[in-house]
Amino acid sequence: MIPAVKLNNGADMPILGLGTWSAEPGKNEQEVGEGLNAMIQQGLVKRKDVFVVNKLWNTFHLPSLVRKACEQTLRELKLDYLDLYLMHFPMGAKPGDDLFPVDESGEMYSDGSNFLETWEKMEELVDEGLVKAIGISNFNRDQIESLLNKPGLRHMPANLQIECHPYLIQEKLINYCHSKGMTVTAYSPLGSPNRPLAPKDEISLLDEPVVKAVAKKHNKTPAQILIRFHVERNVVVIPKSSTPSRIQENIQIFDFKLSDEDMESLLSLNKNWRGFTMEWASQHKDFPLLTEN
Ligand SMILES: NC(=O)c1ccc[n+]([C@@H]2O[C@H](COP(=O)([O-])OP(=O)(O)OC[C@H]3O[C@@H](n4cnc5c(N)ncnc54)[C@H](OP(=O)(O)O)[C@@H]3O)[C@@H](O)[C@H]2O)c1
Repeated sequence: MIPAVKLNNGADMPILGLGTWSAEPGKNEQEVGEGLNAMIQQGLVKRKDVFVVNKLWNTFHLPSLVRKACEQTLRELKLDYLDLYLMHFPMGAKPGDDLFPVDESGEMYSDGSNFLETWEKMEELVDEGLVKAIGISNFNRDQIESLLNKPGLRHMPANLQIECHPYLIQEKLINYCHSKGMTVTAYSPLGSPNRPLAPKDEISLLDEPVVKAVAKKHNKTPAQILIRFHVERNVVVIPKSSTPSRIQENIQIFDFKLSDEDMESLLSLNKNWRGFTMEWASQHKDFPLLTEN
């Protein structure tokens, strides 16, 4: 049984999840849906024992599109509800088939929407039972604050999903969210070594000497140390792998603990390095990486 964090709707969210992002957003829901459905049909798992998270993509921020986007996701996943639905970014983009619409200057083409209005439509998804909880991703502290202070807020965000690993420890943002009763999920916990456009000469977190030394001490792999790092901070972690042996490896993190000393040496690796700098959207009015988190 995987330990869980408690969401503000009372639900338990497993502290370890499987990331399924592979190439581009919107290209893997059908496969996940088929796999999940086969497992449920064969009686191997019950729907209530699986915690499914999905996100609202930028091109569906206009209030008229939010419900349609969620319904489309549910259809592809062959599910009748999601456990958690996140606004992928605070930035809305021009609707259409293009997932990354750009204007003449090559910048993200804004749809002019306001994420507080998009949030109101996400709240309705909870009321209608399409999703059990709602949250946000890639929001900075000011943006979270403006959401929490929104007049008439009906559903508090249950979770913030952000890039986080020893090179980007997100100390302040995590403490802030926890102080407000919001859980946090760490994405790219292994530093997303195979992401598109990663520089060829990038030194992977998995090869970081400090991580390797802690791994050796515990007779674990560097990936297991990088995943366990979040569990020690009560942060949900979602490593991605489509390699069965690695998926097995990445789950074997509940039979050991990192000491305070281990945590200090991992935390000291922080250099505010991001695998995802979102340069494609840097001029957007709601670009999240302008202020210190
Ligand atoms: N909210 C957002 O904006 C956002 C952005 C990025 C990612 N995410 C989420 O976070 C999840 C994870 O992030 P990520 O995919 O960027 O990066 P990641 O989990 O840090 O790294 C995934 C890569 O590491 C490899 N890997 C997995 N386990 C390994 C192991 N034990 N040893 C060595 N290599 C291993 C995987 O290869 P194989 O698959 O070939 O095994 C894959 O190439 C995504 O799937 C997605 O759900 C969210």
